[in-house]
Amino acid sequence: MTAIPPALVDALRAAREVTVLTGSGISAESGIPTFRDAQTGIWAEYRPEDLATPEAFAVNPRRVWEWYAWRRQMVSDAEPNAGHYALARLASLVPRLNLITQNVDGLHQRAGSENVIEYHGNILRNVCSIEGIVVDEQPVGDELPPACPACGGPLRPGVVWFGEAIPPAAMEAARRAAEACDLFLSVGTSSLVYPAAGLMEVALRNAARLIEVNPNPTPVTGLADFPLTGAAGDVLPRLVDALCERGE
Ligand code: OAD
Repeated sequence: MTAIPPALVDALRAAREVTVLTGSGISAESGIPTFRDAQTGIWAEYRPEDLATPEAFAVNPRRVWEWYAWRRQMVSDAEPNAGHYALARLASLVPRLNLITQNVDGLHQRAGSENVIEYHGNILRNVCSIEGIVVDEQPVGDELPPACPACGGPLRPGVVWFGEAIPPAAMEAARRAAEACDLFLSVGTSSLVYPAAGLMEVALRNAARLIEVNPNPTPVTGLADFPLTGAAGDVLPRLVDALCERGE
């Protein structure tokens, strides 16, 4: 079990602004497989990279919709874990906390985190693939993908696919958060997918210190001031407990 270094607790206590970037690893302990884990069941023969693209949706919208329906069910059945709850608690222990997530599962919000920057969108949202607007009404009928009630175009999940741009508001909020923080905490991300992985570089260029929580090494591990090897659901609650203890 990785110990929480006292110097890290001191750095957290001194921080004015903390920015957290999470990836699919934080939801692994909620039973949602990470993006690069093998898929199971009828989807085992597909790679996520071949389904989560505008091209795949153009060629076979029904298959892409059904894959997302399967993933949505997994997300709806999941519960936030100790790692999500620890980050929600951390927000009340530092002057300012910005939480950026690459996850589309909404588990941070369900754990109580506020103002979450959803870098890759949200899987539970429907968007019209023609007009790009969010459609709140529940689709009716058996058609797959369901039709937009306004224009009749096919609905799609409100996530960012490979090759698509990050929503401008999320992009801007995340850039500001990476530039302004004095501590950057990277949790459960392989740090391979840009532009999210570039946020760490922005923070480091602006002299932030870097904490990483991951059971496996990543391209960022060697740059981290505090690399913490372990699962988010174990390490984050101990980090927050250490901060509370030292604060008393
Ligand atoms: P990845 O699947 O690339 O990486 C998951 C990371 O989580 C790995 O580094 C694991 O070691 C780590 N991990 C596994 N279990 C963990 C645990 N219990 N606690 C902490 N870490 C754990 O997922 P992401 O980095 O999130 O993009 O991938 C980033 C983006 O690439 C995703 O948002 C998605 C994907 O392609 C889009 O869909 C656009």
